[in-house]
Amino acid sequence: MNYDEVVLGRRSIRGYKPDPVSRELIEEILAVAMRAPSSMNSQPWNFYVVSGEPLRRIRQGNTERMLAGVPQSREFRTGQPFADRHRERQVGVAKQLFAAMGIARDDKDARQDWVMRGFRQFDAPVCVIVTYDRALQDSDDTPFDCGAVTNALVNAAWSRGLGTVINSQGIMQSLVVREYAGIADDQIIMKSIALGWPEEGFAANAVVSERRSVNEAATFVGFG
Ligand SMILES: Cc1cc2nc3c(=O)[nH]c(=O)nc-3n(C[C@H](O)[C@H](O)[C@H](O)COP(=O)(O)O)c2cc1C
Repeated sequence: MNYDEVVLGRRSIRGYKPDPVSRELIEEILAVAMRAPSSMNSQPWNFYVVSGEPLRRIRQGNTERMLAGVPQSREFRTGQPFADRHRERQVGVAKQLFAAMGIARDDKDARQDWVMRGFRQFDAPVCVIVTYDRALQDSDDTPFDCGAVTNALVNAAWSRGLGTVINSQGIMQSLVVREYAGIADDQIIMKSIALGWPEEGFAANAVVSERRSVNEAATFVGFG
């Protein structure tokens, strides 16, 4: 695949085969991703690659606490709930996913089941937790750099036939993530990436989310 084929073909994957992913392959993907640019080459990111029993415990702890009504404790600012055009886009992709999965608007059980899947990181065999050095927490460059490496990672994975979904849902309960992934105190949890081999028959995996046109997003200045 050339670069455009990777980027244009990649979609978030929310249904996985249970097959394991080798450590060697994940190391290869991380090495490619870590070529991402960062502010003054600070490379503020670290990765906790979790599988097997520790991942099962994270899933279980996250799910149990969310069901018990424990307030989420993610380590990044989420701001106000989306409104207006941002909310429209959020609803837009949710509608696409629910339509693909045959989940009706008033089917509360099926919707709840979908949310629960998210808390389990869609049962992917691997979860990559992206953290950054606490010493850099006051710079907006730091989450920017983590985004750059994460985008590179999902595309490097896709080019090798692996699916991913970047997620905030799977790390709602940061204490659980910290405990079972053994995250060091000098690290802040930025985001999680579920990773594994895509389940071909899983309808949501085929959803191509919408994008604004370039002319909506870009302002060209001085082009005549
Ligand atoms: C910062 C971030 C957080 C996300 N969190 C979730 C999540 O918690 N659950 C989920 O299903 N998808 C999550 N996503 C995936 C987005 O919904 C998805 O990237 C977006 O709808 C565009 O779709 P695409 O990735 O298929 O192009 C997240 C993506 C990003 C970048």
